Amino acid sequence: MLTIAIASLSGGQGKTTASLMLGRLLSRQGYPTLLIDADPQHNLTTYLDLELQTNQPTLLEFLKKSVSAENSIYPSEGNENLFLIPADDQLDTIQDYLSNSGVGATLLKRRLEPIANTFKVCIIDAPPQRSQICLTVLGAADSLIIPAEASVKGYGSLVRTLDLLRTLQDIGATDAQVMGVLPFRDRWIGNTQTHESRAAVDGMRDEVGEALILPSIRESERYKQAINRRSTLSDLGYPELEYPFAVLIDKISKLAKAKKKKTKS
Ligand SMILES: Nc1ncnc2c1ncn2[C@@H]1O[C@H](COP(=O)(O)OP(=O)(O)OP(=O)(O)O)[C@@H](O)[C@H]1O
Ligand SMILES: [Mg+2]
Repeated sequence: MLTIAIASLSGGQGKTTASLMLGRLLSRQGYPTLLIDADPQHNLTTYLDLELQTNQPTLLEFLKKSVSAENSIYPSEGNENLFLIPADDQLDTIQDYLSNSGVGATLLKRRLEPIANTFKVCIIDAPPQRSQICLTVLGAADSLIIPAEASVKGYGSLVRTLDLLRTLQDIGATDAQVMGVLPFRDRWIGNTQTHESRAAVDGMRDEVGEALILPSIRESERYKQAINRRSTLSDLGYPELEYPFAVLIDKISKLAKAKKKKTKS
């Protein structure tokens, strides 16, 4: 199983949008995919229409090991091959548990080991703060996708996320490598990219290099429509808007194969 964190250290950078769209597309292409909602705001759980009773297990119980892994994984209705470990607002209470455990950064990674052969890809929607949850998410990841708004705020979010990643890499708390930076809400007027978007994407390119800049997600109501209608962009008649995800799926497929080979040898 290839574990991918979708992280960016500000709100509204496209983490949940990217997690949801990638999850839907990967599962449709036949990849058994596990989504993990690691944000106490639990938008991903909401978008997948999972209505949990208060006593039903979530990521909180999965991390605390108070239920078996299988009991905290839910199928996603209408999406064969797509599964979810959901969150609710109680997830915030895990912060102290993680910091007191002494092994917080490796906890999620260890919990995922027993189910590593059940799924091909695991996608984790990280919280927007540099919290204990964020650290355990990065600790579990093989790869990192960093969505960042094509704006001054988004550029700052990318810089802070890279800074955290490097710190964790330096102390051996994660092996994650950046798969790509996904410019989000890239604004164009007709055929012209706005000055702010262009400057932000240029700045992102300077940070990570051309090879890691993914095709942008354009500013468009279509994405919101797809999310709200529980649909994909191609089902709504806009397959061209799915191009950034097609590029990502190609990268994911290659990395998943390489990991499988490495695990076998
Ligand atoms: N292409 C788009 N153009 C404009 N708005 C979009 C687009 N795609 C998604 N949105 C909207 O942008 C908002 C922020 O996106 P999203 O929720 O994915 O960010 P996030 O990083 O998960 O935020 P948070 O840190 O709060 O969890 C959402 O309201 C979403 O519906
Ligand atoms: Mg979100």
